[in-house]
Amino acid sequence: MKSMTYAFQMGKVLHNLDSSDFECKFRLCLFLPAGNIRAFTTLAWSRMRLIPKPLPRRIVLWPALLLICGLNLSGCRLGATDAATRGKELFETCVPCHQQDGSGSRVLGAPNIAGMKEWYVEEEVDKFRDGVRGMQFSDMEGMRMRPMALSLPTDEDVKTVAHYVESLPPVRHASSLPGDPKAGGALYATCSACHGANGAGNQDLGAPRIGGIDDWYLATQIRKFKSGVRGANPKDFEGQLMRPMALTLANDDAVRNVIAYIGTLQP
Ligand code: HEC
Ligand code: HEC
Repeated sequence: MKSMTYAFQMGKVLHNLDSSDFECKFRLCLFLPAGNIRAFTTLAWSRMRLIPKPLPRRIVLWPALLLICGLNLSGCRLGATDAATRGKELFETCVPCHQQDGSGSRVLGAPNIAGMKEWYVEEEVDKFRDGVRGMQFSDMEGMRMRPMALSLPTDEDVKTVAHYVESLPPVRHASSLPGDPKAGGALYATCSACHGANGAGNQDLGAPRIGGIDDWYLATQIRKFKSGVRGANPKDFEGQLMRPMALTLANDDAVRNVIAYIGTLQP
């Protein structure tokens, strides 16, 4: 009897080491409520009486215990795989515009999101869901994206798909806009305070990676910040940080030059 309780406890310890997945813990809790161990062992022993005498009970008991422990552990791995598969499944919704590899579609105005940080994807998808982005009729691309964000049923799904997006290897496209990176370098001094000298971004400030992002998309977004299509909503805390920065770029030449400079960065 003692050995059985011990084996259960070991299973529990091993499980906790193996995974921090809540779903698994929950599953395990269903499996091993401490109060039921006694009832279960009593039941197990009464069943043992049905086994023919010549077969020593221990021979039957130990493989059964090992099997139960094994099931607990494999259950955890199954949980982890489920999350990855679910992420891929959810991403199928995004593929028509952002492509299978996440590299985006210029024709549709859908940005290259491959390898984009989970925190930023989650934050922006939430903004689309909450109507902080993509609510104005003049914002054609935003209005295209918003219903897609709303199609994700739960916060958990947003997190799962965001995690999947980050796992996609970044794709870098050649530059498509003319501009003078030298002149842009001086302008970028302002931007580097938040986006970093190499354009890698800064999560503490909510500033995303802009190095390696397609130039046409950077141009569109800067234009949106300047006109107030993005970053003017009082609920958009990060957008409100960014908007005055876009307004420091006096004209289209300045926008093109700073983008040409961003194109030289290796985050
Ligand atoms: C119908 C086409 C379409 C689909 C499907 C779509 N998107 Fe988008 N997405 C867009 C467009 C267009 C934009 C650009 C919006 C803008 O210019 O403000 C965008 C923007 C985004 C952004 C903002 C990126 C940034 O740098 O600001 C994220 C994140 C994003 N999409 C994630 C997703 C995810 C995740 C899915 C799948 C659940 C998805 N999208 C499905 C068209 C789409
Ligand atoms: C005070 C900090 C700060 C400075 C300085 C700053 N930004 Fe930003 N930027 C942000 C934040 C925060 C966001 C995210 C806004 C959001 O969540 O919608 C952002 C977003 C952006 C985006 C949108 C990226 C995307 O994927 O959608 C672009 C493009 C951008 N910044 C370019 C610039 C440029 C160019 C400069 C310099 C002229 C600059 N930023 C200066 C904070 C800053």
